[in-house]
Amino acid sequence: MSDVERPITWRELLAETTAVLGERPAARWLCETACGLHGDEFLAALDESATERMVGHLDAMVARRRSGEPLAYVMGNWSFRTIDLMIDRRVLIPRPETEWVAEKAIEIVRACGPSRLVADLGTGSGAIGLSMAAELPLSGTEVWLTDASVDALDVARANAAGIGRSAANVRFAHGSWLSALPDELHGRFDLIVSNPPYIDVDDSEVQESVREWEPSSALFAPSGGLGDIATIVDESPKWLRPGGSLVLEIGYRQGDDVSRMMNDSGFVDVTVLPDLAGRPRVALGRTVLS
Ligand SMILES: C[S@@+](CC[C@H](N)C(=O)[O-])C[C@H]1O[C@@H](n2cnc3c(N)ncnc32)[C@H](O)[C@@H]1O
Repeated sequence: MSDVERPITWRELLAETTAVLGERPAARWLCETACGLHGDEFLAALDESATERMVGHLDAMVARRRSGEPLAYVMGNWSFRTIDLMIDRRVLIPRPETEWVAEKAIEIVRACGPSRLVADLGTGSGAIGLSMAAELPLSGTEVWLTDASVDALDVARANAAGIGRSAANVRFAHGSWLSALPDELHGRFDLIVSNPPYIDVDDSEVQESVREWEPSSALFAPSGGLGDIATIVDESPKWLRPGGSLVLEIGYRQGDDVSRMMNDSGFVDVTVLPDLAGRPRVALGRTVLS
């Protein structure tokens, strides 16, 4: 893309990248990544020359983006609430609506007593669970992150290292849904949260780039998309303490089915909340207080 025979400034590279990609925010983020400076620091460096290595890095990222690879994978990192996550093709790219799921979970756990035992099932990059670890008080909080994918857990572990001291009470468990957790934690969780796969494999609304690039094991679930949710709803009550909460991200057409499943499994105060776009996307319920 760029003529590296003569020094080229970041201002020129930003203009070139914007023209090539046709998307200004993406061009800016890629230039910032290649430059290693962000926000105001990048703006202050616009008239500085890029090194040959930086230009090579930018060219490689632009080529990947032009091939249709999602920006988050190209950049290798993505913001989620207060944390910056390392992201690659082993994990789903965390979505803005999931930030809202994490917010509900954090809000519920904040109202618990001085000790908080929580689990994020199907943690992927660790987005929800590590946000809880980062935003809840360190003292008294224990967060379990589980996934059936060893690769995803490796990414979550790397991201836990990225939040430093806040990860002191984060634990990892490999396995399918609740069976990943140690038996001695039966009946002890204050909250279980999950953004499980919930898309029907034949769903025509799924974008082609999502199908092509993101792990299918993170997207698709059997039984019309409800199979994994059904397992979690069915198995969670015995892991929650009396009055403990289940918080699930669901598909926008699944509210009635998931409410019915939760009521049938003995959850009370079952509610489906709309996301920021007004679509029903978060199912909540709690076990009865004995
Ligand atoms: C929709 S992604 C959510 C990832 C992350 N929690 C987020 O919100 O960005 C679903 C995750 O569930 C995991 N998963 C799929 N089947 C599973 C199972 N049987 N048990 C545990 N995790 C599973 C996938 O590997 C994937 O990481």
